[in-house]
Amino acid sequence: MADIRVGRKIDKGTGYGRPPQHYDDELVHVGPGTPCGEMMRRYWHPIALSEQATTRPRKIKLLGEDLILFRDRKGRPGLLYPRCMHRGTTLFYGKVEDEGIRCCYHGWLFGVDGTCLDQPCEPEHGLHRDVARQPWYPVEERYGLVFAYLGPAEKKPILPRYDILEELEPNQDIMARQMGAQTGDGTMPTAPYSWVHLNDNVIDPYHVYVLHSTFSNVQFSHQFIVKPHQVDFFQSEVGICYSAVRDMGDGRLLDRVSSFIMPCIMSVPDTRGDLQHRRSSRIGWIVPMDDEAFTTFTAGTITKGEKQLFSPLDFNGKTWAQMTEAEHQDTPGDYEAQAGQGTISLHSEEHLAQSDRGIVMMRRLLKEQMKLVAAGGDPINVAYDLSKATIKVPSGNFFRKKEAAE
Ligand code: FES
Ligand SMILES: [Fe+2]
Repeated sequence: MADIRVGRKIDKGTGYGRPPQHYDDELVHVGPGTPCGEMMRRYWHPIALSEQATTRPRKIKLLGEDLILFRDRKGRPGLLYPRCMHRGTTLFYGKVEDEGIRCCYHGWLFGVDGTCLDQPCEPEHGLHRDVARQPWYPVEERYGLVFAYLGPAEKKPILPRYDILEELEPNQDIMARQMGAQTGDGTMPTAPYSWVHLNDNVIDPYHVYVLHSTFSNVQFSHQFIVKPHQVDFFQSEVGICYSAVRDMGDGRLLDRVSSFIMPCIMSVPDTRGDLQHRRSSRIGWIVPMDDEAFTTFTAGTITKGEKQLFSPLDFNGKTWAQMTEAEHQDTPGDYEAQAGQGTISLHSEEHLAQSDRGIVMMRRLLKEQMKLVAAGGDPINVAYDLSKATIKVPSGNFFRKKEAAE
């Protein structure tokens, strides 16, 4: 039979017959018992703004676990497993009292540490109620945020401080905000895709030049239109950083240092307006709710009296939610690019290049720390000694004079 290919040009690289692709499950999964989930459970994570912890029970999702947050009438925040230990209805419908939350079904009352304080339908309000315990997790408040620790009790570290949030001028305050504060109308308090997408984005200086500056309109500072001519990635004490150097064309170089802080924290320097020579003023936490959704919290310094931590982004006079699909296509930003990678990106299809060195270093560091935790060790940025519990953040926009030789 004649070969039908004779004399015909055969197309190469078409989509037909490509192998099935998959994501990197070691990196992505955050549930209990997974390598990444266990590593993540060795750190405190923010779960709410302090003002969101009230006498109205609130649903929280963190690292694949559903939880209920409330604040008892004495002002103590509590975080409990939602299914009541009696017969399993949710404490979301509970009522908060001075000492804890009372289940709607048969009235068992639980303190913020899960102790059962009352069983009203049992003889003498529960002869054995002292041995009952609703599963709970420790919480602590700092910087206007409620932090939770979901890991092994004997490994609970000190809730860390960050030097840039500790060294305040007399006219400064700290303000905290949740994701959505930048969209102009508070939309998108959660992002419906893997936390890994944003985590990668933190250590990706090149998308600032393309996505945020030259592809779409200028979404952040006009100074990002200049392509960085020198980019270095380096491991610091606290994670992975990059230094991206730009020639400002006026005798100055801008060295922008941005940080990924273990395990899923970012300190990105100022991004808006005419950038000034100064350290980063913010810490942002990427909080995996489960494998397919995350939220972020940010705490930063403001001048006393200021109402906003960051000015809402301008989407051509609209809020993000008011934009048409065509406008999202014309001026995509972080959300479009990251959601565009799918619910969970297919890592086996990636072609990581020179510009992705930071991402490679960060993922390697995360996996090393997973192995360390699995072997019984303590990962970086976990401290049990108060003198070691302040994280030094190297981020900032740093201007220097361009030397003749450079
Ligand atoms: S199910 Fe909660 S008290 Fe009975
Ligand atoms: Fe970005």
